[in-house]
Amino acid sequence: MNEQQKLTKVSTSTIQDMKARGEKITMLTAYDYPTAIVVDKAGIDMILVGDSLGNVILGYDTTVPVTMDDMIHHTKAVARGANRALVIGDMPFMSYQASVTDAIYNAGRFLKETGAQAVKLEGGREVADTIRKIVDCGIPVMAHLGLTPQSVHQFGGFKVQGRTDTAAKKISEDAKIVQDAGAFAVVLECIPASLAKKITKSLHIPTIGIGAGVDCDGQVLVIHDMLGLFEEAVPRRFVKKYCDLYDQMKTAVEKYADEIKSGTFPDKDHSFK
Ligand code: KIV
Repeated sequence: MNEQQKLTKVSTSTIQDMKARGEKITMLTAYDYPTAIVVDKAGIDMILVGDSLGNVILGYDTTVPVTMDDMIHHTKAVARGANRALVIGDMPFMSYQASVTDAIYNAGRFLKETGAQAVKLEGGREVADTIRKIVDCGIPVMAHLGLTPQSVHQFGGFKVQGRTDTAAKKISEDAKIVQDAGAFAVVLECIPASLAKKITKSLHIPTIGIGAGVDCDGQVLVIHDMLGLFEEAVPRRFVKKYCDLYDQMKTAVEKYADEIKSGTFPDKDHSFK
C-alpha cells in the first residue's frame, strides 16, 4: 500500500476497483473503539461490526438474540476508531426479514446513527427485493451466502454448505441474484473452495471468503478467533490463530494480582510524593 492509499478512505468503489485489478481485499470484524483503531492502522480495507458480537462480546451461543440497539451501540464505537477502513454494520436477525419497510428503516439507522458506510445482511433470492430497496435508498449492501449463522436452527448446526450439486447450484444462482439486486460485495461462508472459486469468477462484484478457500477476492475472520482471545480451541477449521492473546492477558492479570498481594505494586514510580 502506498502513502496515498494509506490516507484515502476506502469506499465501495475502492473495493470494486480492487477486484478489477486482481488485488486481494482484507476484512476483519471489530466491535469496539480500541480494536477498530488497531485494525484500521494495520491497513485492513473493511471492518465488519458483525452480529458475531453476540458470540464473542455478549456470550450468547448464537447470533439470534442480538438486537439493533446492540449493533448500533458497537458500530458507533468502531466508526469513531476507523479513519480509513470502510465500516459495515451487520443487520441482526429479524431486523430485515419481516418487511422491506423494517429493513430500510434499520439499514438507515446504521448510516444515520453510527457513521457506518454500508450494511450487511444474510440470504439470497429471498432477500433480493430487500437488497434492491435498501440500495435504492443510497445505502450500500454486502450480501452473505453459504453458512448464514442467523439460520443455524434451519441448517441444524454449523455445517459446510453447498456440498451437493443442487445446493451448490442454488448458492451460485443466489450469488448472481444478489449481485443483480445491487449488492456491492458478497461474503461466502463455509462452502467448498472449488465452488467459491467458480462463483468468484462468475461475478463482477467481489467475494469475501470465510472458510471458502483462497480464490475469493478477499478474506474475513472474526478478530477474537484470529487473535486467540478465548482459552478453548476455535472449533472451526478455517480459522487460523495468529497469536494467543488469552494467554498473554491472563499472564498479565496474574502478575498484577501477585504484585498487589506482595506489595510490589504500586512502587515509587507509580505513586505520588
Ligand atoms: O457476524 C460476522 O462476524 C460475520 C462474519 C463472520 C462474516 O458475519
